[in-house]
Amino acid sequence: MNLVVIGTQWGDEGKGKIVDLLSEYADYVIRYQGGHNAGHTIVIGEKTIVLHLIPTGLLQEGKTGVIGNGVVINPKALLEEISTLNNQNISVSGRLYISESAHLIMPYHQKLDLESEKTKGNKKIGTTGRGIGPAYADKMSRSGIRICDLFDQDLFRERLETKLSEINTILDHIYHAPPFSLEDIYQEYITYAKAIKPYVINTAQLLNTAIDEGKDLLFEGAQGTHLDVDHGTYPYVTSSNSGAGGASTGTGVGPTRLDEVLGVTKAYTTRVGSGPFPSELTDDIGETLRENGNEFGATTGRPRRCGWFDAIQVRHTVRINHMTSLALTKLDVLDGLSEIAICVAYKVDGKTVTEMPSSLRSLETASPILKYFPGWDESTNGITSYHKLPQNAQNYIEAISDLVGCKIDLISTSAKRGETIVRKNPFCSP
Ligand code: IMO
Ligand code: MG
Repeated sequence: MNLVVIGTQWGDEGKGKIVDLLSEYADYVIRYQGGHNAGHTIVIGEKTIVLHLIPTGLLQEGKTGVIGNGVVINPKALLEEISTLNNQNISVSGRLYISESAHLIMPYHQKLDLESEKTKGNKKIGTTGRGIGPAYADKMSRSGIRICDLFDQDLFRERLETKLSEINTILDHIYHAPPFSLEDIYQEYITYAKAIKPYVINTAQLLNTAIDEGKDLLFEGAQGTHLDVDHGTYPYVTSSNSGAGGASTGTGVGPTRLDEVLGVTKAYTTRVGSGPFPSELTDDIGETLRENGNEFGATTGRPRRCGWFDAIQVRHTVRINHMTSLALTKLDVLDGLSEIAICVAYKVDGKTVTEMPSSLRSLETASPILKYFPGWDESTNGITSYHKLPQNAQNYIEAISDLVGCKIDLISTSAKRGETIVRKNPFCSP
């Protein structure tokens, strides 16, 4: 069985915890898009581990991890993450594979990301500043450098030289910033090439052979569908396909081989960075959600914007990913609220709409139409069986499921691995 796990909102839905839990049942765990802009927090016993680039599922012993061709890789960040794991006695040696076709994040990508954000002023995207956008832009404009290019030193030098002559002109003329040195980057990346060589292979071949042999694969999406460059709140998005479609293009596993799509959704909504957020709460309740949910970015430490669950948003996610089930996370953060709202429609230019407008201006001016549900006083923290949840919590969960049109198979009631209600495990047949 091959399962794609995606974020349904604007990222930070708790994908790390759900992926960690389900990886126990998979043989291969695969990242297919994004880069070290992701921040996946996993709590195992007393330990909290944050991963950015390495598949979360590798924290489970004996699993094989793959970083697919659709990921943009900063080799420095990758090597640092490998050594952080080594320091915690988690070895990835012999069980981590990196696609030879994946594109590299170069030092100038990060510089361009930061400079471009600076010039945008209050129109900035609020990127993670990791060079993600410029790296994908180079890939699409066919001037990127791939992992395999590092192993042909003449070709690498030639491509780097061509690219740097363009980049240094841009830095000088537009940003009035100093140039990058060809020799410095060349030497730095040749050193990385030696260190990552043991991990680099044709991962499309590896994964398709694994499927032929009947292995179970878990594709780990980073970010969320509404940060997807095609389906998100453009231009306030990331630069990759974070939806389920990316799992195919980002790995070389054909779409007919992907069996199920599980969407991870928070019991409320958060967003980090700029962009429209119709159900945002800028009052005390928003502050309560941020405090109780510890809503601070795992990659940048920025406070996350918080708001009510947006059923319009997640219903669209269910549709375009043809999702088969949902995992609802952070339910316990809502404990103690006297009432809880769900955004069921928007008011745009005086009209009620029940679909997310594509126009940025419409989305920015959309006000939420809310439906209120009674809250619950009891603590749901750590509950592992559905019938033990307060009736009002069950009603809230069923309302979400009805409004978005998808069954909810998992409910997470704390950050800990075991504290999850599993109504149906996608890897176990009924
Ligand atoms: P995980 O996998 C939440 C957001 C940034 C910014 C926009 C573009 O932890 O859910 P980028 O650096 O990608 O060019 O920034 O996307 N963003 C995320 N928000 N969770 C993430 O990852 C994110 N990765 C990028 O804040 O708004
Ligand atoms: Mg995150």
